[in-house]
Amino acid sequence: MTAQLETEPRPTRLVPAAAHANVIDLDCKVPETVIWPVAGGKGGTEKSTLTANIGVGLSLLGYKVIIVDGDLGGADLHLFFDQVSPPKSLSTFLTLEVDSLQSVLLPTPNQNLRIICGGSEMVGMANLSYATKAKLIRHILSLDADYVLIDLGAGSAYNTLDIFSLSDEGIIVTTPEPQARVDAYGFLKNTVYRKLRHLLNKNESATELIANFAREAGRKSGRLEDLLVRLSNDDPIAGQEARAMLGDYRPKLILNRVRARRHIAEVHRFIQLVRQYLSTEVEYVGYVRNDDKMLDACEKRRPVVLNAPKSGAALDLYSVIMDGLGVSDRLHRFEPRDCPKSPRRRPSSGNAPGLPSRAQPPRQPILSAQWH
Ligand SMILES: Nc1ncnc2c1ncn2[C@@H]1O[C@H](COP(=O)(O)OP(=O)(O)O)[C@@H](O)[C@H]1O
Ligand SMILES: [Mg+2]
Repeated sequence: MTAQLETEPRPTRLVPAAAHANVIDLDCKVPETVIWPVAGGKGGTEKSTLTANIGVGLSLLGYKVIIVDGDLGGADLHLFFDQVSPPKSLSTFLTLEVDSLQSVLLPTPNQNLRIICGGSEMVGMANLSYATKAKLIRHILSLDADYVLIDLGAGSAYNTLDIFSLSDEGIIVTTPEPQARVDAYGFLKNTVYRKLRHLLNKNESATELIANFAREAGRKSGRLEDLLVRLSNDDPIAGQEARAMLGDYRPKLILNRVRARRHIAEVHRFIQLVRQYLSTEVEYVGYVRNDDKMLDACEKRRPVVLNAPKSGAALDLYSVIMDGLGVSDRLHRFEPRDCPKSPRRRPSSGNAPGLPSRAQPPRQPILSAQWH
């Protein structure tokens, strides 16, 4: 994308074209909006808590952020933002009371962060019509922000899968319990099949092959690689497209409520399993420890990054955002990594006992005065 800046009329020496005399074409990339849907398969894996905290964290780093509560069956994200009974929400948009998603945005104490509440009276995402879903997706894609986070509900309803698939880099949240990993695996598997069906929906024989394989795979331990081989044998171009599509799919994974080092090892084994069985490369972006400070913050209906910014959980969240998700500190709010104070503070604010130590000392956040 080429950026254009309005300027004062230019001195004649610089004017190359008369038509837009006061516009300079900058030869630089304007960063596109990053969309991160957050899902997990299982309920109670702390998707909403993490989404709210990551959203606030990004806004404190100087980015324009919008958080959408896409958990229409159990919307509760607004509680983190002093909105007990939101005056407008996603339902206001979905029930056609307003015709733009932009108009249901609500402000938060930080002008960089706005939210779209879920609206408790909505039935589930599962009940959105195709046309409504398409309109919602279109409007999400045109939101004006650096980052759009979408908190999705539990389960693998088609609408949840489709909103997750808005981005190839959606975030999965899981906890260390095997049940949560099984649900995360199921969710990933459903996204993969859904994506394949979408990609090849005009190709009847491929669609049939995928449907048959999905049925068989339920009984046998079918690896997706077998499907890709069969697909390529039947239709080499379809096989190639499917492989390219899977190559681009790079869901991210956050492990929440970590209590022991072995939880991290288990999640790496899980990622290996997904690679083996679903031919999908999941990117592990970090962990957040189990921390009572998180519960205290939730009780006060505040994100932990504001309520206890130097707590272990808050530092983990910043580590996920900056190290895992690769977001840089636009406002330089953090003491530099080589600050000699940081390592010495580690026992109280760094890695929890028993958890793997990070290569780098934790960063020390400096909070914005805009929040209270
Ligand atoms: N790292 C953590 N340590 C301790 N408690 C946590 C942590 N993360 C989340 N919780 C708690 O888990 C509960 C459920 O989280 P929630 O975000 O509502 O889950 P979901 O949106 O997946 O249903 C919240 O009460 C929250 O305080
Ligand atoms: Mg939730």
